[in-house]
Amino acid sequence: MAYDFPKSRALFERAQRSIAGGVNSGIRKMELPVPLYFDHGNGSRLFDVDGNEYIDFQIGQGAILYGHAPPGMANAIADQARKGTHWAAQSELEIDVAERLQKMIPGAERVRFNNSATEVVMSALRLARAHTGRPLILKFEGHYHGWSDEGLVGFAPPADKWGSDENPAPLHPSQGVIPEVLGNFVVARWNDPEHLRRRVDEHRGQIAAIIFEPVLCNTGCIEPVPGLISTIRDLCDRDGMLMIADETITGFRFGAGCAQTHLGFVPDLTILGKAVGGGTPFGALVGKESSFKKIISGEVVHAGTLNANPLCLAAAKWSLDQVIALGDKHPGTMIGLGNRLMVGLTELAQKHDIPLRPQGPGLVFHCAMLKPGAEGGAIRDYRDYVKRHDAPRWAHLRRCLLEEGVRAIERGLWFISLAHTDADIDEALAKAAKAFARHAETWKA
Ligand SMILES: Cc1ncc(COP(=O)(O)O)c(C=O)c1O
Repeated sequence: MAYDFPKSRALFERAQRSIAGGVNSGIRKMELPVPLYFDHGNGSRLFDVDGNEYIDFQIGQGAILYGHAPPGMANAIADQARKGTHWAAQSELEIDVAERLQKMIPGAERVRFNNSATEVVMSALRLARAHTGRPLILKFEGHYHGWSDEGLVGFAPPADKWGSDENPAPLHPSQGVIPEVLGNFVVARWNDPEHLRRRVDEHRGQIAAIIFEPVLCNTGCIEPVPGLISTIRDLCDRDGMLMIADETITGFRFGAGCAQTHLGFVPDLTILGKAVGGGTPFGALVGKESSFKKIISGEVVHAGTLNANPLCLAAAKWSLDQVIALGDKHPGTMIGLGNRLMVGLTELAQKHDIPLRPQGPGLVFHCAMLKPGAEGGAIRDYRDYVKRHDAPRWAHLRRCLLEEGVRAIERGLWFISLAHTDADIDEALAKAAKAFARHAETWKA
């Protein structure tokens, strides 16, 4: 019997009378048939207010790397809460966390904390402009760097406005942004090193930084083609631009050294969010001491009342200790689990003639639902994704999965956490079998 959600429906109705639009982050409205209200979580499981249990692959949009409500983290936060929730001052905890980051991430010579990755991106771009005295930032189409005026440039541009392949237009998905922001960005397509080289050459001497997700998790989970990351590094070294790796999703998912160690590069600055705070509002900018000079001197303002909040630091310290303790076992175990799930979903799709294709490095992956006639190789960049991914059909399958107790991300992404086990994957595939059968029976284009 598929799940029903009467209490979530009633709460969503009530919420709309006080909370603007009923949700506190626009994307949460995407959840069908209704944005869900949760009661509690435990490890890989979430329980909603209707008593429905989910194997959770959404895991707090990736922040819950350690599973829901791990007792060690709960104790660390509770112990700290009894001493104080906020001092707006220094604590030994902040040095403990900074020193751990220094040990874990090559190139993390200096650290600053914020309360979200969106803020960390704002800090990084301001710092890069001050560091180089240049106005422009190069970013890749489809990469997401938070919801600020700058972070959203080039994310989800509509096909009729996105410009030529050679000259992608800097567009913004939101109204109300400062119009001049767009003129401060150069947008390039992902996964085309020669195109990137030409984009940089066109604006040579004017670009302060290249920012990117090392694995493009926010659009299709697209890994970099060989030579792309080394081209970014070479161009940054050649022209004195800062290389900024946005590891908000990939950080610690790929082990202590993050995706940069896994892929073999050292950026100048790294954005950390989500898993670094284990699900508390926490983010960090880490990088070379030379890149931090203008923050160290005070010429670049970096501030925040709640920065280095002790509750978040307590959670972060506990979280980083888990990753350190796992050593080499991580991320291989998560990659193995994710690969099993991808293979199982692919087999179910083939059985029911559903054009679903999982893509990604296992511990995070995306399910592309291919449009008719859009078969072919892996999805390569944002434009390829838009042309080939059938979002309404995926939304239908995602709802069927949710109603059987398997929770993936509304946009098609799946995260493996350290709390998932082989038994979770077996159970998820058994539930997915029912969801795929129902989708195949009921989907109408
Ligand atoms: C790559 C990347 N950068 C930045 C952010 C912004 O993080 P936050 O929503 O915590 O501010 C996100 C959020 O999903 C992200 O995926």
